[in-house]
Amino acid sequence: MSRLIVVSNRVSMPSPDGSQGGLAVALQAALRESGGLWFGWSGREVEQFNGSVSFEEVDGVRSAVVDLEPQDVEEYYNGFANRTLWPLFHYRIDIAKYNRSFGSGYERVNKRFAEPLHVMIEPDDTIWINDYHLIPMASLLREHGIKNKIGFFLHTPWPPTRLLVSLPHHERLVRSMFGYDVVGFQTGEWLESFRHYCENELGGTVEGDYITVDGQRLRAVVCPIGIDFKNFVESGETELAHQLSERMRVSLRQLTMIVGVDRLDYSKGLQERLVSFEHMLSAHPELHRSVVLVQVAPPSRGEVEQYRHVREELNELAGRINGMFAEVDWTPIRYVNRGYRREELTALYRAARVGLVTPLRDGMNLVAKEYIAAQDPEDPGVLVLSRFAGAAAQMSDALLVNPYAPEEVADAIQRALKMPLSERKARFKTLRDGVEREDVHWWREKFVKMIEETETVR
Ligand code: ADP
Ligand code: F6P
Repeated sequence: MSRLIVVSNRVSMPSPDGSQGGLAVALQAALRESGGLWFGWSGREVEQFNGSVSFEEVDGVRSAVVDLEPQDVEEYYNGFANRTLWPLFHYRIDIAKYNRSFGSGYERVNKRFAEPLHVMIEPDDTIWINDYHLIPMASLLREHGIKNKIGFFLHTPWPPTRLLVSLPHHERLVRSMFGYDVVGFQTGEWLESFRHYCENELGGTVEGDYITVDGQRLRAVVCPIGIDFKNFVESGETELAHQLSERMRVSLRQLTMIVGVDRLDYSKGLQERLVSFEHMLSAHPELHRSVVLVQVAPPSRGEVEQYRHVREELNELAGRINGMFAEVDWTPIRYVNRGYRREELTALYRAARVGLVTPLRDGMNLVAKEYIAAQDPEDPGVLVLSRFAGAAAQMSDALLVNPYAPEEVADAIQRALKMPLSERKARFKTLRDGVEREDVHWWREKFVKMIEETETVR
């Protein structure tokens, strides 16, 4: 096994309290086995960028991180990554900001990462770059003479050509991807859009998995990310999970719980979700005092104004709906702005008869998979899932909904609440089998194997 070098904007090392996301756990296992290295931004700012790399080793996992200066963070992370590419890639050209300083900051930071990174690469290393923050990384490494196999995985959607062409210099960004050997997407839909762009905007040709543009060839594949299923199920058996289950049992009494768990992001369709719930309460007075929506939404990317707006709107909306329907002994929405540990999340998911996962657009959505993994097989809840989440391509036994249509979502919640046990079990079994089979280890092994196997001439 060759050494694996993983590169991502954020680096997540093993933490002493064990509170790690599934992706971090899977990548850490791979890095440990291969003696690899995880490279990225430290998350820290220094007055002036100095290029110095800090190395760390925890539990056999090595990381190398660099600090950025405030202008870098503003133009690269808050700017091009989260004000330009994130909205554009989630089909929101109405709020995407195209500002030259963001573009130059993005190029500058990618170069600043490539500089120390290329020095660390040894001839047999396999390199795996992650996400929209680092699209040009392979071509920058190639400029430094790196000939290793390099793969790129995009965790977000890839937008349709008609939207992508609204980005100034879009050709330059996409051409830079031809420095990769393999480019991976979460679903066939995003892959189709990428191929369409390459054929129609760059004059490329497609043959099987391969796309060639001006003599440069890459392999473009679908490889959907999964969760750490086993670990997630085990988390549900811990003391912490049992404690929260008990608290939920006491606080819910006879109430049936519906749960939503999302980063506070406009792509998650949170306002639309609350409005759908409001529709349901208006149309079904018999549900008053018998259901509760627990919406957990920890704030995210608070430096970006769109995220502050969505937070304000949600505060207002949750307050308005509660004000309209609440009774002295019942509040329809419990809106919580904090993060929970994985063990606690399993308890929340399991306590809920309905998992409401209704993003307007999402690369995958791991919460949908976590909700299924956490269910009691003898009395499982029902997943109501947006058809615009990447997860919908693998989870057709969920109740698939259009999150823009509040009445449709309200009907699906109603249907989920009434669904007989036999149907719940049948749907759950198929969904659980898929989430267990195509877990995060399956994903990582499949993608790394594709990078290693793909033949390219450099
Ligand atoms: P995204 O990557 O856009 O945030 P995903 O649904 O794919 O969306 O992944 C979100 C991850 O963050 C999941 O693993 C989920 O458990 C975690 N998460 C979301 N909300 C919370 C929360 N309140 N506390 C802890 N973890 C959370
Ligand atoms: O899923 C997209 C993603 O950017 C991940 O790469 C990241 O871990 C998550 O969203 C949270 O975003 P941020 O790193 O900006 O807090």
